[in-house]
This record gives sequence, structure tokens and C-alpha cells, in this order.
Amino acid sequence: MVSLLDPLKVNDLVLDNRIVLPPMQTQKATEDGKVTDELKEHYAKRSEGQGLIIIEHSYISPGGRLAKKQLGIHRDDLIPGLKELASTVHEKGTPAVVQINHAGKTANRENVDSIPVGPSPDENVRKLKTREVKELVTRFVKAGERAVKAGFDGVEIHGAHGFLLNQFYSPLTNKRIDEYGGIFEKRIKFPLEVVEEVRNKIGEKTLLYRLGSDDLDPEGTQIKHSKKFAKRLAEAGVDIIDVSGGICGSRPEKLEGEQGYFIPQASEIRKSVDIPVIGVGGIKSPEFANKVVENGSVDLVAVGRAQLADPEWAVKALRKLKN
Ligand SMILES: Cc1cc2nc3c(=O)[nH]c(=O)nc-3n(C[C@H](O)[C@H](O)[C@H](O)COP(=O)(O)O)c2cc1C
Repeated sequence: MVSLLDPLKVNDLVLDNRIVLPPMQTQKATEDGKVTDELKEHYAKRSEGQGLIIIEHSYISPGGRLAKKQLGIHRDDLIPGLKELASTVHEKGTPAVVQINHAGKTANRENVDSIPVGPSPDENVRKLKTREVKELVTRFVKAGERAVKAGFDGVEIHGAHGFLLNQFYSPLTNKRIDEYGGIFEKRIKFPLEVVEEVRNKIGEKTLLYRLGSDDLDPEGTQIKHSKKFAKRLAEAGVDIIDVSGGICGSRPEKLEGEQGYFIPQASEIRKSVDIPVIGVGGIKSPEFANKVVENGSVDLVAVGRAQLADPEWAVKALRKLKN
């Protein structure tokens, strides 16, 4: 039986155990997206005991910025700082990938240079032209290349929590009638193009996709759709699926309070793919994290807020489970 303590090999990448520090925005970058000492310190404190660290969402273009002090990956001059950040984690022997994101219509008007863009027009949101969607694929690819140049072990494409790629996937937010909207097949086209092109450019590096698996809305995406989508993502070159919420976000009120609140979704997705799956949601206890690996629900467990509260959570969890 596999446990939380067991290593996992994903192509050439070896994770020492099944604990994941999920991406969590710290707002510790500079106002132009650069890595700071404070940001490095935040990750240095949490680098031990993890199987994998996923660095917080970094914006791929100025129009996709969510917050003022958000980490950026949209320009080449950011690479030296990102390199230092990757080394900070690697020094502790822990693999690290960085999450790349475009906030789409959720971008804060104050933090982007023009009106936020999305798949469909909305209040204070401009609809992306077909040509612009293709340009954004290139932006994601460039961000992926920068992550590799900075020495990260790979990238996670953010396709959850109601940000741009999730907005294209969900029928709640995508009302387009061009090649990127309408039926399921068209709504997954933009995310799949991003995955395929990033895959082509990052070579053997590890590619993760954070999948907004469930909108928790009868009119939105549901797990039956996301099982099909996950299969397509794996075929397009994703190495690990990181399952979270869709338009409902990462911490939906109706699920909060329960340990492992997105584990059922992750477990369902795991049945439809042959690649490792990360599960998340309100996990606090090492025993719970271990249980969902041991019972085969998920391959990896992300523990977010508990690790923000206690930077030594992972080290303590390993110690506790070994005894
Ligand atoms: C402060 C904070 C910032 C977050 N930032 C991100 C982010 O940058 N990217 C992302 O995919 N999820 C983000 N999340 C969601 C977490 O990765 C995680 O899925 C969520 O907190 C649920 O896990 P937990 O209950 O273990 O914290 C954030 C969550 C918190 C609390």
C-alpha cells in the first residue's frame, strides 16, 4: 500500500514524498512583479519536508495581473529573480514548479493597464478577439520558457478558480460562438492549445494543470465533464493533474469546514487518467492526508493554509507518521 511517505517518480522528477505545497499568492513581490527577499524567505521557511512546491500564480501578461504585488513572469528581466527563488527551494533538496496564470475578467481594474478581458463581454469586461486568444497562447508559452530558464523543474498552468482558462472552459462564463466557445470541445480548445504548446517548449520538464473540476452549479461544469477534460489534458502532455474548484473558487463556502473537500472530485478524475492526481481542500491533519493516499483516492495531497499557519507542518507530519 502506498503512503504519504512514499516517493513518486514522474518522468525524470523524483518527489521524496506525497506532500505538496499548493500555489498560494503571498503578495510579496514588487509592484512590477519581481522576486523580493521577503518572498524567498517565505518559501525557504517552507521548503523542507515537501514532495513538491508549487510557487504561487505568476502573471503571464500585464493584462492578466490580479494583485498589486503579485509575482510576474511576463518579462525576461524577471528571470534572474525567479532563478534565485528556484534555487532557494532547491537548496533544501525540494523540487519546485511555478504556476502561470492570466486572471482574465477577474483581473482587478486597478492593476491592469486597460479594461479586463474575458471570453465574453460582461460589465467592465471586454471580449477577447479570436486573434487575441491565439496571442495569449504565445504569452503562456513564453512564461513557461522563462520558468525553465529560471531553473524550475516545470510549470503549472492555472486552469481553476474562475481565472481566464477556467472562464473559457466553463459554460457559465464562455458564451462565445467562434472556435473557442459553444460545445465542450470548443470550450476546452484554448486550454488544450496552451498545454500542447507549453509542452512542446518545455521539453522534459514537468507540466501540471490545475483543473477547475467543478463549478458547484447545475448550469456549470461538473465532474462528468472534467473527467473527459482531464483525459484530454493527459493526452496533450500534462504530467500531473492538480484538482481544485472551478468558478466556485478554491474555498467555496458550501464545502468549507470539511477536511478534504475537493478529494471526491480528485478521486473521480483519477479514475479517468493514468497520470498522478493531486487532491486538496481544508486538510489539516497528517493522518487524514495519509489516509487519502493509502485508500487510493489521490496520489498527492496539497496542504495550503495549514502550511501557511505552520511553516514546519510538512516536517512535523513526516516525523509523526514515521513513528
Ligand atoms: C492566501 C491564499 C492564496 C492562494 N493563492 C492561490 C494561487 O496563487 N493559485 C492557486 O491555484 N490557488 C491559490 N489558493 C488556493 C490554494 O492553493 C488551495 O487550493 C486552497 O487554499 C485550499 O487548500 P487548503 O484548504 O489546504 O488551504 C490560495 C489560497 C490562499 C488561502
